[in-house]
Amino acid sequence: MGKDSWREKRIEQDVKYTDEAHLKRVLSQLESLPGLVTPVEIDRLREQMAQVADGNAFLLQCGDCAELFSYCNPKQIEAKLKLTLLMSLILIHGVRLPVVRIGRMAGQYAKPRSKPTEVVELPNGEKRTVLSFRGDNVNGLGLDEREPDPERLLSAYFHSAATLNYVRSWISSGYADLHAPHAWSFHHVQSEYLQREFTRITDSIVDTLDFMKTVGADPGRHNSNALSTVDYFVSHEGLMLEYESVLTRDTEQGPYDLSAHTIWLGDRTRQLDGAHVEFFRSIRNPIGIKVGPSMSAEDLIRILDIVNPNLEKGRVTLISRYGAKKINDLLPAHIRAVKNSRHNGLVIWCCDPMHGNTISSPLNPSIKTRMFTDIVKELTCSLRIHAEEESRLGGVHLELTGDEGVTECIGGSMELSDEDLSRRYLTYCDPRLNYEQSLDIAFMISEVLRAQRKGTAAVSDTIVKVLAHTIDDGEESP
Ligand code: PEP
Ligand code: CO
Repeated sequence: MGKDSWREKRIEQDVKYTDEAHLKRVLSQLESLPGLVTPVEIDRLREQMAQVADGNAFLLQCGDCAELFSYCNPKQIEAKLKLTLLMSLILIHGVRLPVVRIGRMAGQYAKPRSKPTEVVELPNGEKRTVLSFRGDNVNGLGLDEREPDPERLLSAYFHSAATLNYVRSWISSGYADLHAPHAWSFHHVQSEYLQREFTRITDSIVDTLDFMKTVGADPGRHNSNALSTVDYFVSHEGLMLEYESVLTRDTEQGPYDLSAHTIWLGDRTRQLDGAHVEFFRSIRNPIGIKVGPSMSAEDLIRILDIVNPNLEKGRVTLISRYGAKKINDLLPAHIRAVKNSRHNGLVIWCCDPMHGNTISSPLNPSIKTRMFTDIVKELTCSLRIHAEEESRLGGVHLELTGDEGVTECIGGSMELSDEDLSRRYLTYCDPRLNYEQSLDIAFMISEVLRAQRKGTAAVSDTIVKVLAHTIDDGEESP
């Protein structure tokens, strides 16, 4: 297994550039640029993922479906960071575990597509077949920009670098300070329930910190790293192997992919004998693997054997995305297969309740949406099944946006309807949870896990209150 052994295998979702020489020039420039993250940071994440695998921390991985270069601006980066911090605070409060935060950010530019081309209608009514939009680092959304352009790989690098630079400086400037959670933008949340619950949590944190100060146990606002700053890691789908490969650097410990702290293997590119699996097995970074309905229990163990032969705890996060209708039939067998293998206790189970639940909007079939009820259902099923199988849900993987008033998924405490979708439908790929819907989900998980922690079998009254209008009749409580 060498750095380039993936090149000998079949590459799914491959991008064909017409100007090979141009691609080579770009790749050699990328090769000379510094990594976007460091092996030390990646090792810190590896340690934290081992903690997640052991049940000593909870994973929150979230961000856009398709990040665009134009999202690299202070407003949108801050909005996503604040929302992630809020959600992690809500989770920490209920779960009483540290939360490992990983953004789908600073590099989530490439998208796998089910079809290489699509038919579009021009303003004059003429229909034309064009290449599908594959994400900002491949081609542009505009009809005259669909030809893959190698220059976009460089642009992806520099937009990732600028995004990361802003994330790092925002966090190190004290905005993530736990002494001031009120500053994390809760004011525009309309739901009275969410407002009340959030005030309850922040009041209790501020009270606790006050108490610690009174008894002399508060290490002080500016001396304590634990209270005044947080770790925030970045991730994206490891789809463009040329890009990942030139940003992979050898160290004494082995090759580290310095394009992000962690990357995941998509549901469409996880063939056991394919180039992506070959590349993923060669890097030291923690990795994610999407596990969908087409994954057999046997192949799940085979892929784990391939990418984690040294049985490293927390190296692999299994990001399950079956869909609300299928999870009951599929997850138990996958959990049992892992339990009966050498990988028992080593993987992190993470629920992605988004990708198995994408539907066409009943009102406007040309736009994609997701029902909040389906998202909640897949999550609650996942929590329940893990409890029944004596396994543990270690985290969640969500597509969300911090941008105000987005209307892409139907339901939630704002009670968005199908008619509302057209109001602020901004995604260029999959529909994302908006601010309120994301907080709804964080409160729900936090409450379920708190009930589990306290040994209360039933879903607490609080969840029923928050989600009364969203939980499907037939669904049992976890
Ligand atoms: C995604 O995470 O945006 C994605 C395309 O997911 P999946 O590979 O699970 O379909
Ligand atoms: Co998506």
